[in-house]
Amino acid sequence: MRYFQQLLAFASIACIGHASAPDTLAGTSVITSLGASNLTTGAACACNKLCALYSNLVIFPSSANYTEQATYYWDVRADLSPACIFLPTTANEVATAVKHLVQCNAQFAVRGGGHMNFPGSNNIDGGVLLGFNNMANYQVNEDTIDVEPGMTWYDVYSALDPYGRTAIGGRLKTIGVPGLTLIGGVSYFINKYGFAMDNVVSYEVVLGDGSQVTTDSTTNPDLFWALKGGGSNFGIVTKFKLKTYSMPHISTTIQVFNESSTYAFTKAVCDWALADSQSPVAAGSVLTITYNVTTKEMSPSLLGVQAGVSNPPSEFKNFTAIPGVSKIHNVTTGKQWASTLDSPKQMFRVMFAHHSMIPDADVLYSMIETWKNAVEKISDVQGLYPTFVANISPASAARVAKTNGIGNVWGLDDEPLIWWQFSTGWDLQQDDLRVEGWARQLTEHLHGLNKHKGLARDFVYMGDAGEWQDPFAGFAPANVQRMREIRAAYDPNGTFSKLNWGGFKLGY
Ligand SMILES: Cc1cc2nc3c(=O)[nH]c(=O)nc-3n(C[C@H](O)[C@H](O)[C@H](O)COP(=O)(O)OP(=O)(O)OC[C@H]3O[C@@H](n4cnc5c(N)ncnc54)[C@H](O)[C@@H]3O)c2cc1C
Ligand SMILES: *[C@@H]1O[C@H](CO)[C@@H](O)[C@H](O)[C@H]1NC(C)=O
Ligand SMILES: *[C@@H]1O[C@H](CO)[C@@H](O)[C@H](O)[C@H]1NC(C)=O
Ligand SMILES: *[C@@H]1O[C@H](CO)[C@@H](O)[C@H](O)[C@H]1NC(C)=O
Ligand SMILES: *[C@@H]1O[C@H](CO)[C@@H](O)[C@H](O)[C@H]1NC(C)=O
Ligand SMILES: *[C@@H]1O[C@H](CO)[C@@H](O)[C@H](O)[C@H]1NC(C)=O
Ligand SMILES: *[C@@H]1O[C@H](CO)[C@@H](O)[C@H](O)[C@H]1NC(C)=O
Ligand SMILES: *[C@@H]1O[C@H](CO)[C@@H](O)[C@H](O)[C@H]1NC(C)=O
Repeated sequence: MRYFQQLLAFASIACIGHASAPDTLAGTSVITSLGASNLTTGAACACNKLCALYSNLVIFPSSANYTEQATYYWDVRADLSPACIFLPTTANEVATAVKHLVQCNAQFAVRGGGHMNFPGSNNIDGGVLLGFNNMANYQVNEDTIDVEPGMTWYDVYSALDPYGRTAIGGRLKTIGVPGLTLIGGVSYFINKYGFAMDNVVSYEVVLGDGSQVTTDSTTNPDLFWALKGGGSNFGIVTKFKLKTYSMPHISTTIQVFNESSTYAFTKAVCDWALADSQSPVAAGSVLTITYNVTTKEMSPSLLGVQAGVSNPPSEFKNFTAIPGVSKIHNVTTGKQWASTLDSPKQMFRVMFAHHSMIPDADVLYSMIETWKNAVEKISDVQGLYPTFVANISPASAARVAKTNGIGNVWGLDDEPLIWWQFSTGWDLQQDDLRVEGWARQLTEHLHGLNKHKGLARDFVYMGDAGEWQDPFAGFAPANVQRMREIRAAYDPNGTFSKLNWGGFKLGY
């Protein structure tokens, strides 16, 4: 078997005929060639050109590493069957690839850490997948770090660990740097430093014609602004320069509660969101409520982190005061903490669904109760893994963009928000539409009730949304208009709209 795979891998180096026969893809779903470009011919053209140039960086369905690459995703639904996978090692190779993709009119997808919960945002059936697994170099500077898009946040925290510093990024180990940074980025230090995008000093970008530009506050400042929350609409980022902060120690807490503490937990969540210190201790959290369909019990939990050594972390004292099933406090490093928080590849099929509200403990609690009852309606779904998540977007985080002279595309008001979310996992493809329908109906129902109460807000975070949601509809309309103008200026032929069409796109 191993010999056979090697033979196939070797055969692919010849670059002949592989991409032109997509019907032979193992386990492929139906490949259609609708729309403006011919998927089959475009991909075959691009795969053959890339293979001729970089034979050892192109993987075909017959190659040994194809399955590993085509399943490098958290959500099993993201597994698709690209005609070939290109793993560039440099920005110049990315630029060359874009030129060939455009010349061949080849549809393509781009993948960083593979965590986005939107099938087709980061993989493509029958097209070309560009993955950054071979581009994970970095350079630590005095108060910044240069990061290539193949890095995970654990890689970044590990690189900064010897210097006692950290960057503003993801809360779990294996989330990718590029996706999170381009869509916003919720960190453990959100209340003081804002979002990950607010801490990017410059971007190096491959544009839709294969040219390369640098953007910072003075060079191409309009593109610089658009990349702060605008996602994958403008180009491929090949390097991020991120601010770093001294953070030799963090104080952490893991608290698990039983169902009887759910109201107190909800109140602590809202109080934390509302507490708006002018000089906050940098802190953030992961707040979830799981529902066990066997025991029919909810279980709230907190992962809390703050800068410094105050133990237990003072920012979470309202949670610490609630009786819980288990509480583990520690003083540690960001690297050590992140090392324990993996989100494994191929975890399950999973559907996100989310909206925003201003904090109100009674209403949030009733939403949680409604969710719990609604989960019972789908409790026969095999492998059901229902979670209610609360992400907190404090007023102080919105103020960072308001006061740093740059801003971001969101244009959030100076008010605390709770981004409430259902994250629902399950096993079987046959249940996809059922779970999606359930999540959509429940989400829109609760959002509708919140609108009547005056508590709803339009903001939708790309990191928490389902693929059926439109985050751009919740941004300040003038900002969306400006993003379209910037897209027209930097990508006039629509490479990142028409050829790289997957994911949250600005639309027309
Ligand atoms: C388990 C889990 C935990 C999460 N935790 C957090 C969290 O703590 N904070 C938070 O803010 N969000 C979180 N998220 C959401 C997360 O930020 C998004 O899923 C994000 O897109 C992941 O980045 P990635 O590089 O892994 O994504 P990918 O899926 O690889 O990419 C996401 C999108 O970005 C595009 N893209 C990738 N690389 C580039 C590039 N170099 N240039 C241009 N476009 C590119 C892709 O084409 C795709 O459209 C979490 C998600 C999951 C599943
Ligand atoms: C796409 O290209 C293939 C191979 O050249 C061809 O057979 C097919 O007709 C084309 N389809 C369209 C819609 O142009
Ligand atoms: C395939 O995987 C092996 C082992 O993980 C790795 O050494 C090799 O470089 C990979 N090949 C490509 C083309 O990425
Ligand atoms: C857009 O496409 C036209 C026609 O192919 C080409 O001449 C032009 O150079 C392209 N412009 C950019 C910026 O890609
Ligand atoms: C804790 O809760 C009280 C009200 O019960 C509130 O005033 C305070 O701001 C909260 N503190 C934090 C850090 O959440
Ligand atoms: C639910 O509870 C049962 C019984 O205690 C346990 O065996 C199971 O692992 C729990 N499921 C989850 C997803 O935690
Ligand atoms: C839930 O937790 C509370 C407080 O710790 C405890 O008194 C109670 O017995 C627990 N209930 C169950 C069912 O475990
Ligand atoms: C607490 O932190 C120390 C120092 O980083 C680490 O060695 C230890 O494993 C941590 N303990 C727990 C329970 O996480």
